[in-house]
Amino acid sequence: MPEKNECSQCFDRTLEHRRSVRIFDPEAPYDPEVVTRNLKRAILAPSSSNLQLWEFHRIKDGELRQKLNEACFNQPAARTANELIVIVTRLDKWEQRVEANIEFIKSQEAPEDVKKRAIAYYDKIVRRLYGWAKRYPGFVLKAIQWFNGLKKPAYREVSWTDIRISAHKSVALAAQTFMLGMSADGYDTCPMEGFDSARVRKLLKLPKDAEINMIIACGIRKPEGIYGPRFRLPFEQVYYEH
Ligand SMILES: Cc1cc2nc3c(=O)[nH]c(=O)nc-3n(C[C@H](O)[C@H](O)[C@H](O)COP(=O)(O)O)c2cc1C
Repeated sequence: MPEKNECSQCFDRTLEHRRSVRIFDPEAPYDPEVVTRNLKRAILAPSSSNLQLWEFHRIKDGELRQKLNEACFNQPAARTANELIVIVTRLDKWEQRVEANIEFIKSQEAPEDVKKRAIAYYDKIVRRLYGWAKRYPGFVLKAIQWFNGLKKPAYREVSWTDIRISAHKSVALAAQTFMLGMSADGYDTCPMEGFDSARVRKLLKLPKDAEINMIIACGIRKPEGIYGPRFRLPFEQVYYEH
């Protein structure tokens, strides 16, 4: 195995530094621009069919922040954070994002047949997957794919619930990219799913089909903000070679 280069060692330090911090230091020098920088890094995360169905809502202070803290059950990470980022999935925007991808492909200098194939992927496959999932009951779509799967491999994640899971997967990758970026900059975060999603949706006036993926508390740690040593299962317990 090759030696870890400088970048790889830096990445190790970033991973080691990232902990879920529950108590932030209000006195520590904090530059909100670091958060902006890392949200810009977050959108470089991969996403299913490059639909980028994410949105980042930033809440620093004021009445909305108070209400958001309450919706997060006033947990210490939310209460003591310099700011909160609500990470949202926007499945309601899937058609718009398909169009954006098609427009991007059209704008590229590439052989016409390559562009045609890429456009057909969005126009036919993605549109059908999302459009049908929205329109028809999941059990019907799954039954069709079960039947298709008898003869050859078939894509099974075709229900609206599957599509929601897919959106959350991609959006969580953006969330993790954000947290690692923050860590690389010496800043701290705490991902949270302990909140009243109905209240948060209402506070942010989110439409139907937009969902909260997680809320990330941001700040700089107090030493007591790390609740204990990091626990991970031994690698051998989660690693299989086939
Ligand atoms: C999706 C998700 C939701 C979480 N929700 C909360 C939460 O509501 N409150 C909290 O204090 N920590 C929360 N955590 C943090 C985990 O407890 C933490 O990541 C885990 O204990 C491992 O510790 P580490 O992040 O310091 O390595 C959450 C983490 C994830 C990934």
